[in-house]
Amino acid sequence: MRPVLAIETSCDETAAAVLDGAGVILAEAVLSQRDHAAFGGVVPEIAARAHLAHLPGMVAAVMARAGLGYGDLEAVAASSGPGLIGGLIVGSGFAKGVAMAQGIRFVGINHLEAHALTARLTDGIGFPYLLLLLSGGHCQCIAVEGVGQYRRLGGTIDDAVGEAFDKVGKLLGLGWPGGPAVERLARLGDARRFALPRPLLGRAGCDFSFSGLKTAVAHLVGAYPAGPLPERDAADIAAGFQAAVAAVMADRARHALGMMPGARNLVVAGGVAANGAVRTALEGVAREGVRGRAGIGFVAPPLRLCGDNAVMVAWAAIERLRLGVASDLSQAPRPRWPLDGADMRVAVEA
Ligand code: KG4
Ligand code: ZN
Repeated sequence: MRPVLAIETSCDETAAAVLDGAGVILAEAVLSQRDHAAFGGVVPEIAARAHLAHLPGMVAAVMARAGLGYGDLEAVAASSGPGLIGGLIVGSGFAKGVAMAQGIRFVGINHLEAHALTARLTDGIGFPYLLLLLSGGHCQCIAVEGVGQYRRLGGTIDDAVGEAFDKVGKLLGLGWPGGPAVERLARLGDARRFALPRPLLGRAGCDFSFSGLKTAVAHLVGAYPAGPLPERDAADIAAGFQAAVAAVMADRARHALGMMPGARNLVVAGGVAANGAVRTALEGVAREGVRGRAGIGFVAPPLRLCGDNAVMVAWAAIERLRLGVASDLSQAPRPRWPLDGADMRVAVEA
């Protein structure tokens, strides 16, 4: 297979990458848009305009670094959902334009599938495995049984875990995005000082809930006079919050593994997979095994492939192209696109 160019524009990262047919990364670029910080969250219209401004130059740069012309490509892939529709239109429209001009295939990739398959690129693992997809917009336990074969075992009933980190970051006056800042501050704090709730811990199934935990943090913060919190107290709250999240993650992962007896690896993906406390807690669950089963493997992609990137989109496209699947140019980008929908399945020839 010849190289694949891929584009990622579903949220606030503009990214492009070129992989050769075997999955070797020839060039990659990610631009995290900083323009949203002043608004305390991603502004969809600003994101779409920024993608439009940066994408053409970025694609030209990765193609040049890969030493390729468009005529050398096998296919062009883009994240086509779920995500912010303006950005998705920019990215998939660009990819379709290149595909049409070159007469090559277009692959519209489900962004969640791209996160889900990354561990196969980085660690070469086989199916099936349990995926915890932990990001700003998603928080799900997924049984990954094959390319296009995803079974949702559980998910959040309110906030996504990254959203909870971002809200707690805001409450502690740390700016946006809150996740990395909360983790840095938590390193200085004492996790045992404040007893924070651990929502759904011990409950059957593997659903998540974070709004009660976030509200508990808001109550703690609200007890202080207006203005910045004393640094020591802010650090202790951050540490207590992060410890509660890690404990809940471990518990939910244990339950999910109980629901998936054939799982050979536990994989964590998405922006929150960058969090050291969460990674350590999940690694512990994988290594200890569940209900008398021996421990299983633990895979966390390198940090740069945890957050949104185009390498994962290119890899998902390669996985699909190997099975003979590409997309029609009429495939419209979708703001919502569940992983376990019938349209994700890859028809296997009898
Ligand atoms: O996957 P991602 O880059 O974008 C999507 O939401 O799809 O995830 C971003 C989320 C944000 O909520 C951010 O605060 C969180 O991941 N995050 C972290 C860390 N790094 C990023 N949360 C906790 N600890 C981190 N180190
Ligand atoms: Zn993502």
